[in-house]
Amino acid sequence: MVKLDFSNVLTELIGSAGIKLSEIEDHAKRAVELIRAKPYRELDFIEIYNQDLKDVKEIGKIGRDYEYFLLLGIGGSALGPKVILEALSPFHNLKKKPKVFIYDNVDPVTLKNILEIVDLKRTLVNVISKSGSTSETLSSFLILWKLIRTRRLDVKDHFVFTTDPEKGNLRAIAEEYGIRTLSIPKNIGGRYSVLTPVGLLLAETIGIPSEEILEGAKDISEKAFEEGFAKNPMAILASSLYLLDFLKGRRILVFLPYCDRLKTLSEWFSQLWAESLGKDGKGTTPYPSLGTTDQHSQLQIWMEGPEDKVILFLTVEKHGVQEEIPEEFYYLEGLRFLGGHTLEELMHTEQLATEMALCMHKKPNLKLSIGEIEPRTIGGIFQFLQVTTAMAGLLYGINPFNQPGVELGKRLTYGAMGKRGFETEADEVKRYLKKERFII
Ligand code: PA5
Repeated sequence: MVKLDFSNVLTELIGSAGIKLSEIEDHAKRAVELIRAKPYRELDFIEIYNQDLKDVKEIGKIGRDYEYFLLLGIGGSALGPKVILEALSPFHNLKKKPKVFIYDNVDPVTLKNILEIVDLKRTLVNVISKSGSTSETLSSFLILWKLIRTRRLDVKDHFVFTTDPEKGNLRAIAEEYGIRTLSIPKNIGGRYSVLTPVGLLLAETIGIPSEEILEGAKDISEKAFEEGFAKNPMAILASSLYLLDFLKGRRILVFLPYCDRLKTLSEWFSQLWAESLGKDGKGTTPYPSLGTTDQHSQLQIWMEGPEDKVILFLTVEKHGVQEEIPEEFYYLEGLRFLGGHTLEELMHTEQLATEMALCMHKKPNLKLSIGEIEPRTIGGIFQFLQVTTAMAGLLYGINPFNQPGVELGKRLTYGAMGKRGFETEADEVKRYLKKERFII
């Protein structure tokens, strides 16, 4: 269950910086109407809980027998798995096997370090790419492919591809070499794919039952088409954030979980929000953050800086550990007040204090909360944020599922790296490099 407290965006609480409840309700209603009309086939992600997990479970079981699991992917093909790993199995590599490495960037030093640690004979490499054409993922795949072949290991034993069900380079290679594959459903991809084999294979491999993640997603999906603000918190959140931008110029969205295990969720959400909404001059800029840590880093600018931010808290009611702060140095007032409380209590109090301080400064903020971190709630929060993002996109009147703005950079990379068919882009790069530069 994900709860939303949106009190602190209402005019009743923060005066003219806020929005009227009736306006939020009207736009929430509109968001539901828009999503019900299903204008994009990619909205299939809402029904993703309904999937056959047989292959994911089978390959996950195989994965558990390896010493190392190396995931190659980027963007939506890596951030979701990172959240699953960090939220559901913190400090995994220090405690459990298989040790997991998620190599998403193409930084050669990172790869060198990974390759120094893993023993390829005992490594399963999961290459994830919906398109099968992403330069970063394909490059790291080619390096691993060559290494595995050079060591005379059987590629069938060391690779699993997670890709499009029908097309793309990975699908073609899989067919030629008999590589095990998992399919990312046709209408789902990229940043909306964590609840497909993209995230679920890693979950199974580290011993997390994927059906529990999907059960949490199902609870949320069932509410996605509901009308009425008590029933559809995603519509209320999408509507509030849209109106705070549209009416109040709040163009930066700080995502602030109070839990280390959700730090990567901030990164995952930022990609989802940015790539889905940043189009036609619209959208708000996500700002990944972490409480309480960023209270000692960013809070000053949220509190007294430009009037352009909305804070979205995410709290975990039960952290699952009751670590008590000892009552030592009782004679020192500066320490005495802490003794006898738990770390969880301090975490909750700090969040509450920050929330109140923001309200006192008339800064709009909202709060999501989940009971505890477990597969079900993680599935729930993923789906909650995905539905909210899609609804916000529909309110903005943009397509939340494409990313035309990143295509040009990809094409220029293809051109510069010599891919056939991208000669115009190659010339463009040459012209750019010949221009006079002002470097000091
Ligand atoms: O959301 C998206 O579509 C992107 O972020 C993709 O996930 C990313 O570009 C990787 O794409 P692919 O899975 O096709 O390699």
